[in-house]
Amino acid sequence: MRSASSKSSLLVLVVVLLLLTLLYDHNSCNASLIDPTKSKQISWKPRAFVYRGFLTDQECDHLISLAKSELKRSQVADNLSGKSTLSEVRTSSGMFIAKGKDSIVSGIEDKLAAWTFLPKENGEDIQVLRYEHGQKYDPHYDYFTDKVNIARGGHRIATVLMYLTDVVKGGETVFPAAEETSHRGLNIMDEDLSDCGRRGIAVKPRRGDALLFFSLHPDATTDPNSLHAGCPVIEGEKWSATKWIHVAHFDKIYGNDSDCKDQNDSCERWAALGECTKNSEYMVGTTDLPGYCRRSCNVC
Ligand SMILES: *[C@@H]1O[C@H](CO)[C@@H](O)[C@H](O)[C@H]1NC(C)=O
Ligand SMILES: *[C@@H]1O[C@H](CO)[C@@H](O)[C@H](O)[C@H]1NC(C)=O
Ligand SMILES: *[C@@H]1O[C@H](CO)[C@@H](O)[C@H](O)[C@H]1NC(C)=O
Repeated sequence: MRSASSKSSLLVLVVVLLLLTLLYDHNSCNASLIDPTKSKQISWKPRAFVYRGFLTDQECDHLISLAKSELKRSQVADNLSGKSTLSEVRTSSGMFIAKGKDSIVSGIEDKLAAWTFLPKENGEDIQVLRYEHGQKYDPHYDYFTDKVNIARGGHRIATVLMYLTDVVKGGETVFPAAEETSHRGLNIMDEDLSDCGRRGIAVKPRRGDALLFFSLHPDATTDPNSLHAGCPVIEGEKWSATKWIHVAHFDKIYGNDSDCKDQNDSCERWAALGECTKNSEYMVGTTDLPGYCRRSCNVC
């Protein structure tokens, strides 16, 4: 009798554990779930889409807090001489978050790949930017015309702009060269837009929303309609995160193989310890600066 009851309580325990595992798996799946019906086309020339609620509040806050601490750290690190200073890539109001830096960043990158149908490896590090009052980005293209910038991963094919905060007024992303169609798809009332935002098809920044647009046509030629700008912030503060995606693997350097060298004798050991992912800025490098252990990290 006793053994039968302990057997049944064991069974109950096993069932409960199984249920918990299922529940847990279900939750972690949800984190990277993409619902295509939430993606709305806002323009066909250029091809541009908005996904409402792409990021959760937690993900937005996480990106902002990573950026804030990095900016602080950079200010301290600026005075350090040598390599770690050289590996810093940022503007006064922005910074890059290394790919797969933590599970939240990695989860966002999984969602980006699922939404865009473009592989994770083709993406650059996420760049987080803060625009304060009056700050803007004038109209520009995300594709390059020089050879240096397309050496890593080839052309940029697409860009995803993720809005991390609401902006009271201004700060729209506008496509001044877009071909206007009869409907804008997003029910933006014109009076909500700044003057700058009225100069084309505009997306009003809304916390959690993401904008995807393509800089290349499907035949891989550059799309001049993809000209875009960040309108001046008139009221409030705008935080955004950008993912630029290339036509090929971004971490592989195409070109001269004889440049493929480690620059420190410890590279092989560090790579074996997983530093290529844990410390990719130093090991692999960034958009502007190659890292010190590219050979051991197999990126050249
Ligand atoms: C940083 O370096 C500059 C010039 O070398 C020096 O004037 C300044 O005091 C240093 N700042 C700190 C916090 O060490
Ligand atoms: C590769 O680089 C080396 C030196 O860095 C140079 O001598 C060689 O000509 C280059 N090869 C090509 C194909 O560019
Ligand atoms: C290799 O890295 C170590 C640790 O950062 C450093 O002390 C050393 O000077 C480096 N060696 C070279 C040749 O750069």
